[in-house]
Amino acid sequence: MSDAASTTIIFCAGLVLAVVLALAALAFVPEQPMAEPPMKVAQPVNFDVLNRGANIADLERGRSYYAQLCLPCHGASGRGYGEWAYRMTPRPADLTGERTRGRSDERLHAAIGEGIPGTAMRGWKDRLSDLQRGQVLDYVRHLGRVESTRTAP
Ligand code: HEC
Repeated sequence: MSDAASTTIIFCAGLVLAVVLALAALAFVPEQPMAEPPMKVAQPVNFDVLNRGANIADLERGRSYYAQLCLPCHGASGRGYGEWAYRMTPRPADLTGERTRGRSDERLHAAIGEGIPGTAMRGWKDRLSDLQRGQVLDYVRHLGRVESTRTAP
């Protein structure tokens, strides 16, 4: 066998070995927990933060509007990490943050209905009735309560 041929054989065997070892190593990489799971569904209603008598049916309706219309920007938990979020300036509001939680229902209802000029936040009056905007706002408030009652890990 020529020198060149045996070099080639050794090289190929080495390459195969390297690939096998790399694949074996991959099998042992532990799964990383993700900060924001790439959920396509809005966070489920959390019964721990509901007051007695809360209208769960309304909240669930609000959640389904949110999942269809708001989630791509504001994200599954409302913190503003939806999959479109990085494409816009300013970024979608963190609906669970102190700023939004501190605003009146009237103001947020108006923002949802009319939009916010100069941002990607359009108004939803043409898509959602007054009642439906109220339900989606209930859900937004719910997300805020979930976040604000979350205890530090
Ligand atoms: C295309 C992206 C996009 C979509 C879709 C979207 N938003 Fe927004 N939203 C924004 C941006 C951007 C802002 C403005 C952020 C700022 O002013 O800093 C905003 C702001 C808001 C605010 C005001 C927050 C505050 O503190 O004043 C509310 C409430 C809100 N959005 C709710 C919703 C709801 C409810 C939906 C679905 C019906 C929705 N958004 C859909 C991008 C979006």
